[in-house]
Amino acid sequence: MKKIIIATNNEGKAAEFAELFKKYGVEIETLKDYPEIGDIPENGSTFEENAKIKAHTITRKLHLPALADDSGLQVDALHGQPGIFSARYAGDHDFAANNAKLLSELGGVSLEERTARFVSTLVLAHPDDESKDVIVEGHVDGLIATLPSGDGGFGYDPLFYIPELEKTMAEMTMNEKNAISHRANALVELEKNMPDWIN
Ligand code: IMP
Repeated sequence: MKKIIIATNNEGKAAEFAELFKKYGVEIETLKDYPEIGDIPENGSTFEENAKIKAHTITRKLHLPALADDSGLQVDALHGQPGIFSARYAGDHDFAANNAKLLSELGGVSLEERTARFVSTLVLAHPDDESKDVIVEGHVDGLIATLPSGDGGFGYDPLFYIPELEKTMAEMTMNEKNAISHRANALVELEKNMPDWIN
């Protein structure tokens, strides 16, 4: 059976990817199966660079295909910040502190000007030929609310308001979020490349 290593320790993300690859008879493993790889530094300057660093660290060490993602929030009024710093905007993976900083940075900015998007870049890396890597991106547009709302999801979800659905990402069920999210949209793009890539 073909195998792809997912560059994550996050079981939620791994489950989303496993579902996609199942159709192609591909088994997945994650970094949890390879503790010897350790933490991979994300020191690139774009989502794509960070995803490539993660994927290529794995292909070089294991000589197996690898899939990595990097994602974050871009706020127009903040010139695209927090961007690649989304996870550590105020405190490392401290979602409450990150959301509080975002609200404070946007103090005085009107709702119409609080446009933002979540972006997810995926790199599916070939085990020994980087020119055969597949790189795709997905995004979802919204507004940064003035108050957090909802307790689903994670990260900036309580502040990410989708006007068409009249709710924040944190007010959605997991199925609702998975139907519209940046990661879901990136997966749709990845899937378009899968039949060729598998062969
Ligand atoms: P990573 O790609 O898992 O490293 O995500 C980087 C950071 O972006 C996360 O820690 C969150 O702060 C933010 N982020 C990425 N995806 C989402 C999402 O679906 N909802 C809310 N925040 C997200």
